[in-house]
Amino acid sequence: MDKFLVTGGTPLVGTIRVSGAKNAALPCMAAAILTEDEVILENIPHVRDIDTERRLLASMGGEVDIFDDGTNRTTRICCATLSDPVAKYEIVKTMRASSLVLGPLVARTGLARVAMPGGCAIGGRPIDLHLKGLEKMGAVITQEHGYIEARAERLLGAHIVFDKITVTGTEDLLMAAVLAEGETLMENCAREPEVVDLAGLLNAMGAKIEGAGTPTIRVRGVARLKGARHRICPDRIEAGTFLIAGAITGGDLTVAGCNPRHLGAVMSKLEETGARVDILRPDAVRVQAEGALKAADVSTEEYPGFPTDMQAQYMALATQADGVSMVKENIFENRFMHVQELVRMGANIKVDGRVATVRGRTPLSAASVMCSDLRASASLVLAALVADGQSVLDRVYHMDRGYERIEEKLRGVGAKIARVSHVPAGVAEEAYA
Ligand code: UD1
Repeated sequence: MDKFLVTGGTPLVGTIRVSGAKNAALPCMAAAILTEDEVILENIPHVRDIDTERRLLASMGGEVDIFDDGTNRTTRICCATLSDPVAKYEIVKTMRASSLVLGPLVARTGLARVAMPGGCAIGGRPIDLHLKGLEKMGAVITQEHGYIEARAERLLGAHIVFDKITVTGTEDLLMAAVLAEGETLMENCAREPEVVDLAGLLNAMGAKIEGAGTPTIRVRGVARLKGARHRICPDRIEAGTFLIAGAITGGDLTVAGCNPRHLGAVMSKLEETGARVDILRPDAVRVQAEGALKAADVSTEEYPGFPTDMQAQYMALATQADGVSMVKENIFENRFMHVQELVRMGANIKVDGRVATVRGRTPLSAASVMCSDLRASASLVLAALVADGQSVLDRVYHMDRGYERIEEKLRGVGAKIARVSHVPAGVAEEAYA
């Protein structure tokens, strides 16, 4: 099992480039189910969740090829024949986003069997709202042996009001609605850029969607969709993680290939802590942090609020800011698994329900720590980048689910980080720097 060896203390300086958004690529790949024609997606990130989704589509009879010319990773998907519309447990157990195939499968084939999702262990993470929406569209849902089955000869347009804002729920039902008979009105929808990205692809395939990116989405169902070519938007969470990496190390980092319009909440929070943030170009943001950072409270919200997927990384930063920062997690219960490990590195953090109180600034000292989920791993890398000495991060496979070659990217801007399959006894920094 791979580990990261990280030696802290070097300010990150230079330019670091973000990849395509995993959370946009996953629904867009699922959207290929909706057509017999070819869907070509550019800017696909090289991360494990994408590979899981590739295997998922292939296991159902889809053809999925991935091409990498060194600068652009493209996937060509053709779901002309879907011989086995089943998302099997063996494939989906590591990735909750598998529920994204539910809507498109039932819309295209009239039948979907999907294993109950796994993925990050952050709270219960039900998919009841996906199912409720599909039922409103006329699907008959049954559940047995750990699988959910949805059946419908043809889905019907419906009026769906989400009880709670859900990102993949909005995406799943959007994909169901595009082939439904009649109009679907969806209210209280997620406004995340990844929803907008998916709607862009679906419209290019011939769907009739209005309002993506707002709480109300209107879909006029069509009988069939055609193939399309689409470029996946940049990963705003990867970009935000790098901005924090620049700030926490007291560096001067330019994050290139991002979309600053998707980073508003993260950029303002960084400015509140005293970092300087400048939009250099429409696709590049520079962060500089010279003096001491100061504490700032944060509360996770749906987009355009501060993302829950940035909470763990922000907490690492808060340990290095002067004063008390209250970090409130509103989206998921049980998303403080990184706290224990940060405390082992010397952080002063107390958790009470959904609020973590971080008292900074505490010097961090290197330690052997365990990655517990995707974003928690990122938080530990950030902490290790400023810790005194060499940290060993175990279970970096969590990181590999969603960050592309993060160690290579960080090394390119001065970080001392290496991937090893085992920790050599008494390894010297020079051996891997
Ligand atoms: C997506 C992102 C994930 C991010 C999350 C919140 C993908 C692949 N993943 O996850 O990285 O952390 O949005 O921004 O895009 N809920 C229900 N019933 C449902 C669905 C959700 O109660 O049927 C609840 C969840 O338990 C959670 C909240 O709604 O408390 C938001 O979850 P949701 O937006 O659905 O998260 P995901 O789409 O799974």
